[in-house]
Amino acid sequence: MKISSSNVLITGGATGLGFAIAQRLVGLGNTVIICGRREDRLRGAESRLKGIRVLKCDVSKEYEREALLSRISDELDGLDMLINNAGIQREVDFRKGMADIRAHDDEVDINLKSQIYMTALAVPLLMKRQAAAIVNVSSGLGFVPMAKFPIYSATKAAIHSLTLSLRQQLKGTGISVFEVVPPTLYDTELKGHPLEKADWNMSASEMAEAVISGLQNDVYEIGAGPSAKWLDASRKDLDAAFSSINSR
Ligand SMILES: NC(=O)c1ccc[n+]([C@@H]2O[C@H](COP(=O)([O-])OP(=O)(O)OC[C@H]3O[C@@H](n4cnc5c(N)ncnc54)[C@H](OP(=O)(O)O)[C@@H]3O)[C@@H](O)[C@H]2O)c1
Repeated sequence: MKISSSNVLITGGATGLGFAIAQRLVGLGNTVIICGRREDRLRGAESRLKGIRVLKCDVSKEYEREALLSRISDELDGLDMLINNAGIQREVDFRKGMADIRAHDDEVDINLKSQIYMTALAVPLLMKRQAAAIVNVSSGLGFVPMAKFPIYSATKAAIHSLTLSLRQQLKGTGISVFEVVPPTLYDTELKGHPLEKADWNMSASEMAEAVISGLQNDVYEIGAGPSAKWLDASRKDLDAAFSSINSR
């Protein structure tokens, strides 16, 4: 699909993968709006990327989501692309009962419910366009769960399922539905600290490059590196990958 001169909203776009995609989209001549909860990250993104527009919004809060979409609808000439990228990842040990679950923001609210509601709010706007797109960021862990991130992995599997249904429902509208399936990214804020570079991970910038190329070439499930293999893997291969990543 064409990705220039478009209005694009990226949730969680002030850091990591969202910011790396924003950099490329601004470079291609798009109007890019990013949102997030932390003011300092939004201001940092604004100062590093000329032309980007930032709006503070917690996408897990109904009032804030609605205010965001209505502001975009009022202030811009419509919306062409929603990138549902905001996400969090937490270790949860069920042997501790409710302890880990109560200690964190809710991954189901942020990773899954927010994407559902942001999509429902955006579809009427996107349907006004001849060509538009929804881009859902899931994860390789949606295909091969990592047991120490059980809720995260489950929300990402749900995003894969949701994306399949959405793509089917929106056939015949101008909205194309993409899924981005990153492998582990070593230089984002998701884990709270950067990781060592390894053969099973990549940088946010490399993944963003794959995202842009996938969008431009109408690749509806965009993986890269290890996650690309998992998209076409057999059940046997996925079971082997599960054993391997859970013994690291
Ligand atoms: N890093 C990886 O290994 C990896 C692998 C596969 C998939 N992914 C996925 O890629 C996406 C981007 O993650 P990342 O790795 O780039 O991590 P990141 O740097 O932590 O980016 C996540 C962004 O989401 C924002 N966010 C979180 N909760 C939000 C909320 N309720 N409302 C609005 N914004 C919110 C965060 O900003 P605030 O906290 O300021 O709101 C942050 O800017 C996520 O969906 C993640 O699951 C990452």
